[in-house]
Amino acid sequence: MLLLLTSGLLVSASTLLAERQQTPPAAVAPESQGLHRLMVNAGKLYFGTAIETNNFNDRPYRAIADNPDEFGMYVPENSQKWEAIQPRQGVFSFDAADSVARLAKTNGQLFRCHTLTWHSQLPPFVQNGTWTRATLTAVLTAHITSVVTHYKSLCYAWDVVNEALAENGTLRASVFSQILGPSFLPLSFSVAGAADPSAKLYYNDFNLETTPAKAAGALRIVQQIQAAAAPIHGIGFQAHFRVGQTPNRTALVTLQNRFVALGLETSFTELDVAHLTLPANATAVARQATDYVGVVQACLDVPRCVGIVVWQFTDKYSWIPNTFPGLGDACLFDRDFKPKPAYTAVASVLAAAATGRPPPPPPQRSGGSRVGMLGGLLWPVVVAGLFVW
Ligand code: G3I
Repeated sequence: MLLLLTSGLLVSASTLLAERQQTPPAAVAPESQGLHRLMVNAGKLYFGTAIETNNFNDRPYRAIADNPDEFGMYVPENSQKWEAIQPRQGVFSFDAADSVARLAKTNGQLFRCHTLTWHSQLPPFVQNGTWTRATLTAVLTAHITSVVTHYKSLCYAWDVVNEALAENGTLRASVFSQILGPSFLPLSFSVAGAADPSAKLYYNDFNLETTPAKAAGALRIVQQIQAAAAPIHGIGFQAHFRVGQTPNRTALVTLQNRFVALGLETSFTELDVAHLTLPANATAVARQATDYVGVVQACLDVPRCVGIVVWQFTDKYSWIPNTFPGLGDACLFDRDFKPKPAYTAVASVLAAAATGRPPPPPPQRSGGSRVGMLGGLLWPVVVAGLFVW
Protein backbone atom coordinates (compact mmCIF):
# COMPACT_ATOMS: atom_id res chain seq x y z
CA MET A 1 0.00 0.00 0.00
CA LEU A 2 1.33 3.44 -0.86
CA LEU A 3 1.18 6.06 1.87
CA LEU A 4 1.04 9.75 1.20
CA LEU A 5 3.93 11.43 2.97
CA THR A 6 5.30 10.02 6.21
CA SER A 7 3.35 8.12 8.78
CA GLY A 8 4.41 6.73 12.15
CA LEU A 9 5.70 3.19 12.40
CA LEU A 10 2.71 1.78 14.23
CA VAL A 11 2.95 -1.80 15.41
CA SER A 12 -0.21 -3.31 16.81
CA ALA A 13 -0.11 -6.18 19.28
CA SER A 14 -2.07 -8.35 16.82
CA THR A 15 0.52 -7.67 14.11
CA LEU A 16 3.33 -8.69 16.42
CA LEU A 17 1.44 -11.80 17.44
CA ALA A 18 0.82 -12.68 13.79
CA GLU A 19 4.53 -12.24 13.04
CA ARG A 20 5.44 -14.55 15.90
CA GLN A 21 2.93 -17.18 14.81
CA GLN A 22 4.35 -17.20 11.29
CA THR A 23 7.92 -17.53 12.50
CA PRO A 24 9.26 -21.06 12.88
CA PRO A 25 11.53 -21.91 15.82
CA ALA A 26 14.95 -20.27 15.60
CA ALA A 27 17.82 -22.35 14.25
CA VAL A 28 21.50 -22.03 15.13
CA ALA A 29 24.27 -23.79 13.28
CA PRO A 30 25.30 -26.64 15.57
CA GLU A 31 28.95 -25.67 15.99
CA SER A 32 28.07 -22.13 16.98
CA GLN A 33 26.24 -20.17 19.62
CA GLY A 34 25.33 -17.86 16.76
CA LEU A 35 27.55 -15.36 14.99
CA HIS A 36 26.03 -12.28 16.60
CA ARG A 37 26.27 -13.67 20.11
CA LEU A 38 29.90 -14.64 19.47
CA MET A 39 30.62 -11.22 17.98
CA VAL A 40 29.16 -9.45 20.99
CA ASN A 41 31.13 -11.70 23.33
CA ALA A 42 34.21 -10.68 21.34
CA GLY A 43 33.47 -7.03 22.15
CA LYS A 44 31.68 -5.87 19.01
CA LEU A 45 28.21 -4.46 18.50
CA TYR A 46 26.78 -6.74 15.85
CA PHE A 47 27.00 -9.45 13.25
CA GLY A 48 24.13 -8.77 10.86
CA THR A 49 22.63 -9.65 7.53
CA ALA A 50 20.86 -7.97 4.66
CA ILE A 51 17.31 -9.19 4.47
CA GLU A 52 14.76 -9.07 1.69
CA THR A 53 11.02 -8.94 2.31
CA ASN A 54 10.40 -11.04 -0.83
CA ASN A 55 11.87 -13.97 1.11
CA PHE A 56 9.78 -13.58 4.24
CA ASN A 57 7.56 -16.58 3.44
CA ASP A 58 10.53 -18.94 3.16
CA ARG A 59 10.39 -20.72 6.53
CA PRO A 60 13.93 -22.18 6.55
CA TYR A 61 15.22 -18.70 5.65
CA ARG A 62 13.29 -17.15 8.49
CA ALA A 63 14.41 -19.83 10.93
CA ILE A 64 17.95 -18.52 10.58
CA ALA A 65 17.27 -14.86 9.88
CA ASP A 66 14.98 -14.45 12.86
CA ASN A 67 17.46 -15.84 15.35
CA PRO A 68 18.97 -12.82 17.09
CA ASP A 69 21.92 -14.91 18.28
CA GLU A 70 22.83 -15.64 14.67
CA PHE A 71 22.16 -12.19 13.20
CA GLY A 72 21.79 -9.27 15.58
CA MET A 73 21.18 -6.66 12.92
CA TYR A 74 19.02 -6.41 9.81
CA VAL A 75 19.65 -4.21 6.79
CA PRO A 76 16.85 -3.97 4.21
CA GLU A 77 18.51 -5.15 1.00
CA ASN A 78 16.35 -3.04 -1.30
CA SER A 79 13.25 -1.71 0.43
CA GLN A 80 14.65 1.62 1.65
CA LYS A 81 16.14 2.59 -1.69
CA TRP A 82 14.69 5.68 -3.34
CA GLU A 83 12.82 3.87 -6.13
CA ALA A 84 11.18 1.61 -3.55
CA ILE A 85 10.35 4.13 -0.87
CA GLN A 86 9.45 7.25 -2.88
CA PRO A 87 8.55 5.93 -6.34
CA ARG A 88 6.72 9.11 -7.31
CA GLN A 89 7.36 12.59 -6.05
CA GLY A 90 5.71 13.04 -2.65
CA VAL A 91 4.35 9.48 -2.65
CA PHE A 92 6.00 7.22 -0.11
CA SER A 93 5.79 3.47 0.18
CA PHE A 94 7.09 2.47 3.58
CA ASP A 95 5.35 -0.88 3.98
CA ALA A 96 8.17 -3.22 2.96
CA ALA A 97 10.89 -1.46 4.95
CA ASP A 98 8.52 -1.07 7.89
CA SER A 99 8.07 -4.83 7.94
CA VAL A 100 11.85 -5.27 8.22
CA ALA A 101 12.03 -2.69 11.01
CA ARG A 102 9.12 -4.37 12.77
CA LEU A 103 10.70 -7.80 12.50
CA ALA A 104 13.99 -6.50 13.89
CA LYS A 105 12.11 -4.98 16.80
CA THR A 106 10.15 -8.20 17.40
CA ASN A 107 13.32 -10.26 17.34
CA GLY A 108 15.35 -7.81 19.42
CA GLN A 109 17.73 -7.04 16.57
CA LEU A 110 19.36 -3.77 15.59
CA PHE A 111 18.29 -2.10 12.37
CA ARG A 112 20.76 -0.58 9.91
CA CYS A 113 19.27 1.68 7.27
CA HIS A 114 20.27 1.71 3.59
CA THR A 115 20.37 4.11 1.72
CA LEU A 116 19.52 7.79 1.02
CA THR A 117 21.64 9.45 -1.67
CA TRP A 118 22.61 6.89 -4.34
CA HIS A 119 22.87 7.18 -8.11
CA SER A 120 21.34 3.71 -8.61
CA GLN A 121 17.77 2.47 -8.12
CA LEU A 122 16.44 6.00 -8.50
CA PRO A 123 12.81 6.48 -9.55
CA PRO A 124 12.21 7.95 -13.01
CA PHE A 125 11.09 11.29 -11.60
CA VAL A 126 14.57 11.81 -10.14
CA GLN A 127 16.64 10.09 -12.81
CA ASN A 128 14.91 11.79 -15.74
CA GLY A 129 13.92 15.08 -14.15
CA THR A 130 15.00 18.46 -15.47
CA TRP A 131 16.72 19.94 -12.47
CA THR A 132 18.22 23.18 -11.36
CA ARG A 133 20.46 23.40 -8.31
CA ALA A 134 17.52 24.77 -6.30
CA THR A 135 14.95 22.18 -7.37
CA LEU A 136 17.24 19.18 -6.92
CA THR A 137 18.38 20.49 -3.54
CA ALA A 138 14.74 20.76 -2.52
CA VAL A 139 13.81 17.26 -3.70
CA LEU A 140 16.89 15.65 -2.11
CA THR A 141 16.27 17.49 1.16
CA ALA A 142 12.62 16.46 1.17
CA HIS A 143 13.49 12.83 0.46
CA ILE A 144 16.10 12.54 3.19
CA THR A 145 14.00 14.43 5.73
CA SER A 146 10.88 12.34 5.10
CA VAL A 147 12.60 8.95 5.13
CA VAL A 148 14.93 9.60 8.07
CA THR A 149 12.10 11.12 10.08
CA HIS A 150 9.92 8.08 9.41
CA TYR A 151 12.58 5.79 10.90
CA LYS A 152 13.75 8.26 13.53
CA SER A 153 15.40 6.57 16.51
CA LEU A 154 14.97 3.12 14.90
CA CYS A 155 18.15 3.08 12.82
CA TYR A 156 21.46 2.34 14.46
CA ALA A 157 23.03 3.88 11.36
CA TRP A 158 22.13 5.27 7.95
CA ASP A 159 24.16 4.82 4.79
CA VAL A 160 23.61 8.48 3.95
CA VAL A 161 25.62 8.56 0.75
CA ASN A 162 26.29 5.34 -1.14
CA GLU A 163 28.85 4.78 -3.90
CA ALA A 164 29.54 8.40 -4.85
CA LEU A 165 32.99 7.57 -6.19
CA ALA A 166 34.34 6.38 -9.52
CA GLU A 167 37.20 3.89 -9.43
CA ASN A 168 39.78 6.67 -9.94
CA GLY A 169 38.64 8.40 -6.76
CA THR A 170 36.79 11.28 -8.38
CA LEU A 171 33.06 11.74 -7.98
CA ARG A 172 31.13 9.44 -10.30
CA ALA A 173 28.80 11.08 -12.80
CA SER A 174 25.29 11.10 -11.35
CA VAL A 175 22.31 13.39 -11.32
CA PHE A 176 23.56 14.60 -7.93
CA SER A 177 27.18 15.32 -8.88
CA GLN A 178 26.22 16.80 -12.24
CA ILE A 179 23.67 19.27 -10.90
CA LEU A 180 24.97 19.96 -7.39
CA GLY A 181 28.68 19.21 -7.64
CA PRO A 182 30.34 17.97 -4.44
CA SER A 183 27.93 20.00 -2.29
CA PHE A 184 25.43 17.11 -2.36
CA LEU A 185 27.71 15.29 0.08
CA PRO A 186 27.60 17.68 3.08
CA LEU A 187 24.01 18.55 2.19
CA SER A 188 22.95 14.92 2.53
CA PHE A 189 24.72 14.45 5.84
CA SER A 190 23.42 17.74 7.30
CA VAL A 191 19.83 16.96 6.40
CA ALA A 192 20.05 13.38 7.71
CA GLY A 193 21.63 14.55 10.96
CA ALA A 194 18.94 17.18 11.48
CA ALA A 195 16.20 14.58 10.95
CA ASP A 196 17.64 11.98 13.34
CA PRO A 197 20.48 13.18 15.56
CA SER A 198 20.70 9.73 17.19
CA ALA A 199 21.58 7.79 14.01
CA LYS A 200 25.19 7.15 13.05
CA LEU A 201 25.76 8.64 9.62
CA TYR A 202 27.92 6.65 7.18
CA TYR A 203 29.60 7.05 3.83
CA ASN A 204 29.40 3.58 2.21
CA ASP A 205 31.22 2.30 -0.89
CA PHE A 206 32.76 -0.75 -2.58
CA ASN A 207 36.32 -1.41 -3.75
CA LEU A 208 37.77 1.02 -1.19
CA GLU A 209 39.53 -2.10 0.08
CA THR A 210 41.16 -2.95 -3.25
CA THR A 211 41.59 0.36 -5.08
CA PRO A 212 43.92 2.89 -3.42
CA ALA A 213 42.72 5.83 -5.53
CA LYS A 214 39.16 5.15 -4.48
CA ALA A 215 40.12 4.90 -0.79
CA ALA A 216 41.90 8.23 -1.15
CA GLY A 217 38.72 9.66 -2.69
CA ALA A 218 36.68 8.42 0.27
CA LEU A 219 39.10 10.04 2.70
CA ARG A 220 38.69 13.31 0.77
CA ILE A 221 34.90 12.97 0.99
CA VAL A 222 35.06 12.52 4.76
CA GLN A 223 37.31 15.55 5.10
CA GLN A 224 35.07 17.62 2.86
CA ILE A 225 32.01 16.75 4.94
CA GLN A 226 33.87 17.55 8.15
CA ALA A 227 35.17 20.83 6.71
CA ALA A 228 31.57 21.81 6.00
CA ALA A 229 30.75 21.09 9.67
CA ALA A 230 28.27 18.40 8.67
CA PRO A 231 28.00 15.28 10.84
CA ILE A 232 29.62 12.03 9.71
CA HIS A 233 30.31 9.14 12.06
CA GLY A 234 31.24 6.08 10.06
CA ILE A 235 32.78 4.54 6.97
CA GLY A 236 31.15 1.47 5.47
CA PHE A 237 33.39 -0.90 3.56
CA GLN A 238 31.00 -2.94 1.47
CA ALA A 239 33.47 -5.83 1.25
CA HIS A 240 32.15 -7.53 -1.88
CA PHE A 241 35.12 -9.82 -2.38
CA ARG A 242 36.13 -12.73 -4.59
CA VAL A 243 37.77 -15.94 -3.47
CA GLY A 244 41.55 -15.61 -3.57
CA GLN A 245 41.35 -11.87 -4.28
CA THR A 246 40.23 -10.70 -0.84
CA PRO A 247 42.56 -8.14 0.72
CA ASN A 248 44.43 -9.58 3.68
CA ARG A 249 43.88 -8.81 7.33
CA THR A 250 46.81 -6.42 7.63
CA ALA A 251 45.73 -4.37 4.62
CA LEU A 252 42.17 -4.14 5.95
CA VAL A 253 43.40 -3.00 9.36
CA THR A 254 45.61 -0.33 7.81
CA LEU A 255 42.76 0.90 5.64
CA GLN A 256 40.32 1.14 8.54
CA ASN A 257 42.83 3.03 10.64
CA ARG A 258 43.13 5.76 8.01
CA PHE A 259 39.45 6.53 8.58
CA VAL A 260 39.67 6.03 12.34
CA ALA A 261 42.35 8.74 12.31
CA LEU A 262 39.66 11.09 11.01
CA GLY A 263 37.44 10.22 13.96
CA LEU A 264 35.18 7.65 12.28
CA GLU A 265 33.96 4.23 13.32
CA THR A 266 34.18 1.48 10.72
CA SER A 267 32.06 -1.45 9.58
CA PHE A 268 32.12 -4.11 6.89
CA THR A 269 28.62 -3.48 5.64
CA GLU A 270 27.90 -5.90 2.76
CA LEU A 271 30.35 -8.76 3.12
CA ASP A 272 30.34 -11.67 0.69
CA VAL A 273 33.13 -13.66 -0.99
CA ALA A 274 32.19 -14.99 -4.42
CA HIS A 275 33.60 -18.08 -6.05
CA LEU A 276 35.01 -17.45 -9.52
CA THR A 277 34.27 -20.98 -10.75
CA LEU A 278 31.22 -23.07 -9.92
CA PRO A 279 30.90 -25.56 -8.51
CA ALA A 280 33.77 -24.61 -6.23
CA ASN A 281 36.43 -27.25 -5.61
CA ALA A 282 37.74 -28.11 -2.14
CA THR A 283 40.68 -25.72 -2.42
CA ALA A 284 38.39 -22.82 -3.28
CA VAL A 285 35.98 -23.70 -0.49
CA ALA A 286 38.84 -23.61 2.02
CA ARG A 287 40.13 -20.37 0.56
CA GLN A 288 36.70 -18.80 0.85
CA ALA A 289 36.78 -19.63 4.55
CA THR A 290 40.20 -18.04 5.09
CA ASP A 291 39.09 -14.99 3.10
CA TYR A 292 36.03 -14.54 5.34
CA VAL A 293 38.13 -15.06 8.44
CA GLY A 294 40.65 -12.40 7.39
CA VAL A 295 37.87 -9.83 7.18
CA VAL A 296 36.45 -10.83 10.56
CA GLN A 297 39.89 -10.67 12.16
CA ALA A 298 40.47 -7.24 10.62
CA CYS A 299 37.33 -6.01 12.38
CA LEU A 300 38.37 -7.64 15.65
CA ASP A 301 41.78 -5.97 15.35
CA VAL A 302 40.38 -2.42 15.14
CA PRO A 303 38.64 -1.17 18.28
CA ARG A 304 36.49 1.25 16.30
CA CYS A 305 35.19 -1.46 13.96
CA VAL A 306 31.69 -1.90 15.35
CA GLY A 307 30.51 -4.89 13.35
CA ILE A 308 29.97 -6.86 10.18
CA VAL A 309 26.93 -7.32 7.94
CA VAL A 310 26.76 -10.07 5.30
CA TRP A 311 24.86 -9.21 2.13
CA GLN A 312 22.43 -12.12 2.54
CA PHE A 313 23.49 -15.22 4.42
CA THR A 314 22.36 -17.90 1.95
CA ASP A 315 23.50 -18.60 -1.61
CA LYS A 316 19.82 -19.07 -2.42
CA TYR A 317 19.22 -15.32 -2.33
CA SER A 318 22.59 -13.75 -3.10
CA TRP A 319 22.58 -10.88 -5.62
CA ILE A 320 25.80 -12.05 -7.25
CA PRO A 321 24.65 -14.58 -9.90
CA ASN A 322 22.17 -12.03 -11.26
CA THR A 323 24.82 -9.37 -11.68
CA PHE A 324 27.86 -11.56 -12.42
CA PRO A 325 26.65 -14.71 -14.19
CA GLY A 326 28.98 -17.63 -13.50
CA LEU A 327 30.14 -16.26 -10.14
CA GLY A 328 28.47 -17.02 -6.84
CA ASP A 329 28.08 -19.27 -3.81
CA ALA A 330 29.43 -16.29 -1.91
CA CYS A 331 27.52 -16.64 1.37
CA LEU A 332 28.06 -18.34 4.72
CA PHE A 333 25.17 -20.78 4.22
CA ASP A 334 24.53 -22.78 1.07
CA ARG A 335 21.27 -22.69 -0.86
CA ASP A 336 19.86 -25.46 1.37
CA PHE A 337 20.65 -23.36 4.44
CA LYS A 338 23.51 -25.57 5.55
CA PRO A 339 26.40 -23.64 7.14
CA LYS A 340 29.52 -23.82 4.99
CA PRO A 341 33.14 -24.21 6.08
CA ALA A 342 33.38 -20.41 5.95
CA TYR A 343 30.66 -20.24 8.59
CA THR A 344 32.45 -22.72 10.83
CA ALA A 345 35.75 -20.89 10.46
CA VAL A 346 34.21 -17.50 11.25
CA ALA A 347 32.35 -18.87 14.28
CA SER A 348 35.54 -20.48 15.54
CA VAL A 349 37.59 -17.31 15.23
CA LEU A 350 34.90 -15.29 16.99
CA ALA A 351 34.66 -17.86 19.78
CA ALA A 352 38.41 -17.73 20.23
CA ALA A 353 38.33 -13.93 20.30
CA ALA A 354 35.67 -14.03 22.99
CA THR A 355 37.77 -16.24 25.23
CA GLY A 356 41.17 -14.94 24.22
CA ARG A 357 42.21 -18.51 23.40
CA PRO A 358 43.32 -19.78 19.99
CA PRO A 359 40.65 -21.57 17.94
CA PRO A 360 39.94 -25.12 19.13
CA PRO A 361 41.04 -28.13 17.05
CA PRO A 362 38.59 -29.20 14.35
CA PRO A 363 35.72 -31.33 15.57
CA GLN A 364 35.99 -35.04 14.72
CA ARG A 365 33.02 -36.06 12.66
CA SER A 366 31.82 -39.46 11.72
CA GLY A 367 29.45 -38.04 9.11
CA GLY A 368 25.93 -36.74 9.19
CA SER A 369 26.66 -33.26 10.56
CA ARG A 370 24.99 -30.26 8.95
CA VAL A 371 28.33 -28.93 7.80
CA GLY A 372 29.10 -32.35 6.41
CA MET A 373 32.28 -34.22 5.70
CA LEU A 374 33.66 -31.57 3.39
CA GLY A 375 33.57 -28.98 6.15
CA GLY A 376 35.24 -31.38 8.56
CA LEU A 377 38.01 -32.31 6.16
CA LEU A 378 38.70 -28.71 5.25
CA TRP A 379 38.85 -27.44 8.77
CA PRO A 380 42.58 -28.05 9.34
CA VAL A 381 43.34 -26.18 6.13
CA VAL A 382 41.24 -23.26 7.27
CA VAL A 383 42.75 -23.11 10.74
CA ALA A 384 46.27 -23.37 9.32
CA GLY A 385 45.40 -20.47 7.04
CA LEU A 386 44.53 -18.28 10.02
CA PHE A 387 48.03 -18.47 11.37
CA VAL A 388 49.89 -17.82 8.14
CA TRP A 389 47.62 -14.92 7.19
O1 G3I B 1 11.64 -4.66 -7.88
C1 G3I B 1 11.77 -5.31 -9.14
C2 G3I B 1 10.58 -6.16 -9.40
O2 G3I B 1 9.44 -5.35 -9.48
C3 G3I B 1 10.82 -6.95 -10.68
O3 G3I B 1 9.76 -7.82 -10.86
C4 G3I B 1 12.12 -7.73 -10.63
C5 G3I B 1 12.41 -8.45 -11.92
O4 G3I B 1 13.79 -8.70 -12.07
O5 G3I B 1 13.16 -6.85 -10.38
C6 G3I B 1 13.01 -6.15 -9.15
O6 G3I B 1 14.08 -5.29 -8.97
C7 G3I B 1 15.29 -5.89 -8.61
C8 G3I B 1 15.71 -5.34 -7.24
O7 G3I B 1 16.99 -5.81 -6.91
C9 G3I B 1 14.75 -5.73 -6.13
O8 G3I B 1 14.70 -7.10 -6.00
C10 G3I B 1 16.32 -5.53 -9.65
O9 G3I B 1 16.00 -6.16 -10.88
C11 G3I B 1 17.70 -5.92 -9.20
O10 G3I B 1 18.66 -5.40 -10.09
C12 G3I B 1 17.97 -5.37 -7.83
O11 G3I B 1 19.25 -5.78 -7.43
C13 G3I B 1 19.75 -5.21 -6.23
C14 G3I B 1 20.91 -4.30 -6.54
O12 G3I B 1 21.44 -3.80 -5.32
C15 G3I B 1 20.49 -3.12 -7.39
O13 G3I B 1 21.58 -2.32 -7.67
C16 G3I B 1 20.20 -6.36 -5.34
O14 G3I B 1 19.07 -7.13 -4.92
C17 G3I B 1 20.92 -5.79 -4.10
O15 G3I B 1 21.52 -6.85 -3.40
C18 G3I B 1 22.00 -4.83 -4.54
O16 G3I B 1 22.57 -4.31 -3.37
C19 G3I B 1 23.66 -3.40 -3.57
C20 G3I B 1 23.66 -2.43 -2.43
O17 G3I B 1 22.40 -1.81 -2.30
C21 G3I B 1 24.76 -1.40 -2.58
N1 G3I B 1 26.05 -2.04 -2.76
C22 G3I B 1 26.12 -3.05 -3.80
C23 G3I B 1 25.04 -4.10 -3.61
C24 G3I B 1 25.16 -5.18 -4.65
O18 G3I B 1 24.90 -4.67 -5.93
